[in-house]
Amino acid sequence: MDFRPDLMSTPVAAPPRLPLPRGPISEAVVTALAKVPPPRVLLRDVSADPFGEDLQLALYICYELHYRGFAEVDPAWEWEPQLLRLRGALEQGFLAGLRAEVPGGADVESVLDELLVERVDADGVSHHLRDAGEWWQMREYMAHRSIYHLKEADPHAWVIPRLQGQAKASLVAVEFDEFGGGRAARMHSRLFADLLEGAGLESSYGFYLDAVPAEMLATVNLMSLCGLHRALRGAMVGHFAAAEITTAPSAARMARALERLEADPRCTLFFTEHVEADAVHEQVLRHDVIGDLLAREPDLATDVVFGVQTTELLEDRLGRHLLACWRSGRTSLLHPLS
Ligand SMILES: [Fe+2]
Ligand SMILES: [Fe+2]
Repeated sequence: MDFRPDLMSTPVAAPPRLPLPRGPISEAVVTALAKVPPPRVLLRDVSADPFGEDLQLALYICYELHYRGFAEVDPAWEWEPQLLRLRGALEQGFLAGLRAEVPGGADVESVLDELLVERVDADGVSHHLRDAGEWWQMREYMAHRSIYHLKEADPHAWVIPRLQGQAKASLVAVEFDEFGGGRAARMHSRLFADLLEGAGLESSYGFYLDAVPAEMLATVNLMSLCGLHRALRGAMVGHFAAAEITTAPSAARMARALERLEADPRCTLFFTEHVEADAVHEQVLRHDVIGDLLAREPDLATDVVFGVQTTELLEDRLGRHLLACWRSGRTSLLHPLS
């Protein structure tokens, strides 16, 4: 094992600061977390738009305690019962909202096949950025995605203990690639930090949280939700497969967009790395992970479909938001980049 002391002496990056609240629920969470637990009862009424700013931010903050936490928050909050109860209520609202918006079903093959169909008239975010996107829009896209890619593949690691046999072994093989194959400099989260720096953006973890709207927060919350609940292990695997299937073609379009915009090569590398890697990951996820999981636990087919469909639902919502803002000349962030 090569421990490379130069890398091992790198100091631990400071956790991000708590974000500003966006409504009564996130206000209650932020106010409570600033204190040492146990707190007073956090909140009785958690009814809110399941896709709205307040619920999505409150849920994001609760989940972040399981990743790196926040600078001013006691780590003991991670397992504080009242906060977990509140989180559970927010999750029920989010899950109900998701279930109401997707068709469902148990036909895993056909929902995955649909993802492979490239429509000729497709006009997604990566199509727009490749053909007509401006540099300020590209930088906004990077800021949105930083909320996930600076912890890329972390949410999927939660599902490892919940799998068995080939499904587990193959999912870990994909994760090994996501985490750089044993090299810190090649971790996809590090490549994304390099991309941000190449674009003149801030690469510290969580830096853009206050600027990122609910549409983006929801895509990360879905991963945390499915990763942290063993009952949703099928959905986590379905989400992972959907993400890998759709990433390779969109990464190729993003690489072309960055070349057209004459971006720093560090920006392009993140996407070219994903064109090849995700073509392989797609096959592994589809055949070795999902195939083996469903051979063992066929009843999970509906959950796998749920993971695929909700991933598409939330990506579509985000894409529509980005394009609507950009086409009317507005920022897609809550605060424009400086
Ligand atoms: Fe990746
Ligand atoms: Fe991948």
